[in-house]
Amino acid sequence: MPTAQITTPIALTSDPVSSVGADLVIIPWFEGDVPTAVTGIDQATGGEIGRALGSQELQAKPYELFTAGVTDRSWRPRRVVLVGGGAREAGGPEQLRKMAAAGGLAARQKRVERVAMLVRGVGDPTALAQAAAEGLTLSEFDAGIYKTGEPPSPVPSWTLVVERAADDRIAVAINRGRILGDCSNLARQLANEPGNTLTPREFARRAAAIASEAGVRVEILDETKIGELGLGLLLGVARGSSEPPRVIVFRYDPPGAPATPVLGLVGKGITFDTGGISIKPADGMERMKDDMAGGAAVACAMRAIALLQAPIRVVGVVPTTENMPGGRAIKPGDILTSGEGKTVEVINTDAEGRLILGDGLWYARQLGATHLVDVATLTGAVVVALGKNTTGLFGTPDEWVERIRRVADRAGDRSWPLPLFDDYREQLKSDIADMTNTGGRPAGSITAAMFLKEFTGGLPWAHLDIAGTAWADEARPFLPKGPSGVAVRTLAELAFAMKDGNG
Ligand code: BES
Ligand code: MN
Ligand code: ZN
Repeated sequence: MPTAQITTPIALTSDPVSSVGADLVIIPWFEGDVPTAVTGIDQATGGEIGRALGSQELQAKPYELFTAGVTDRSWRPRRVVLVGGGAREAGGPEQLRKMAAAGGLAARQKRVERVAMLVRGVGDPTALAQAAAEGLTLSEFDAGIYKTGEPPSPVPSWTLVVERAADDRIAVAINRGRILGDCSNLARQLANEPGNTLTPREFARRAAAIASEAGVRVEILDETKIGELGLGLLLGVARGSSEPPRVIVFRYDPPGAPATPVLGLVGKGITFDTGGISIKPADGMERMKDDMAGGAAVACAMRAIALLQAPIRVVGVVPTTENMPGGRAIKPGDILTSGEGKTVEVINTDAEGRLILGDGLWYARQLGATHLVDVATLTGAVVVALGKNTTGLFGTPDEWVERIRRVADRAGDRSWPLPLFDDYREQLKSDIADMTNTGGRPAGSITAAMFLKEFTGGLPWAHLDIAGTAWADEARPFLPKGPSGVAVRTLAELAFAMKDGNG
């Protein structure tokens, strides 16, 4: 049985491409593919495929697009677009997801109404079908929602052409991909909202709607409740703003789930990061509207987890506030006391993410989490270390971290581990308090993670630093400029991989 879903489904068929009811068919094309690799398409295009292969106009380089009109009147589709996939051996689900996104974006640019895609590649057919569904869905995201002049290019209806459409597992996989893609897009929408529309209160409202619609229990803690809980790190960051902070709490408790494990997801929810009194330079500061991308990933993963009916209990915690330099803002040298009771000397008010996450991690433990994962646009230093395409991965023990890495890889969110040697803790030594909130320039992402580790109570914990991966500065064929939705699929898939030692 396909699981519940809210969005319009992707159709599936095993009909030959020639009789699929679509205006355009996306065809994955790999290096070494001969004109007959997809039955009938060379003849249908009047020999265009063979000609383009012969002249090397068509090389099947990754995401290369080759459009050909269908001249054969017995075919229903009017056009095909071949999407290059590079070497065939590399054409697994990860590659197909990106090819589907590239093909979907191209189809939308052409304003085609009905689009089909042939599922082709190497590996497990269900994984390929899911990846194709994810990629097409990801291509639906529109960043320019406040443009009044140009209407956005419409979203086409999608059909996937697969070998065994009657196989229930294929249908389930496509539905799963649809939901995961859709939840990624919701996270992208949230991260794309500017600071003036998405205040902490508005973020909490929208995140609550997104998750509760899927059956997740959501509670929004206001400043009074936050004060009662003593979340002094969060309250400290919030002091500089006239917008009150919130903590968004999610509980997913499926009937029949074992008491443990309880996955605890914690996301950074800074709706705008000016840096506070340690204010950031003006150049590029507008980007700091996405400093809640980790929190959005948690909210939208909770939705996916509930829609897909993950078999384990999951709690989510998203502390959310602005980081502003108001008259009551915290100052360098101020001491804050965390919910857990540990004291922090604030050296730099721009290292605010680790402060609110420290309280968030502690609160997730209070809610019964046995395994922790946090997601945060935490440090500029991670971009220096790993660039814009790889998420920084930290945590303990190694087995837990490696598990997250593998799940993330499969979900299309590449990450790479960095070490947390005890020696790094010395960089956080304070003369007056338990620790400082910054460790200087060397190993900036690692010392940020070392700070978080102080609040994990020795539980298995992984930290994803998505400062580089949450936002694309340059458009790529499969990902336009703007929010990427990173980590949504990883967190959702993790709730399945944890069941019986999978992943
Ligand atoms: N939100 C930023 C990190 C960030 C930087 C995200 C660039 C996306 C792109 C974070 O709050 C921050 O300001 N970190 C500081 C830490 C420093 C003061 C120790 C940084 O990275 O400069
Ligand atoms: Mn900051
Ligand atoms: Zn920040």
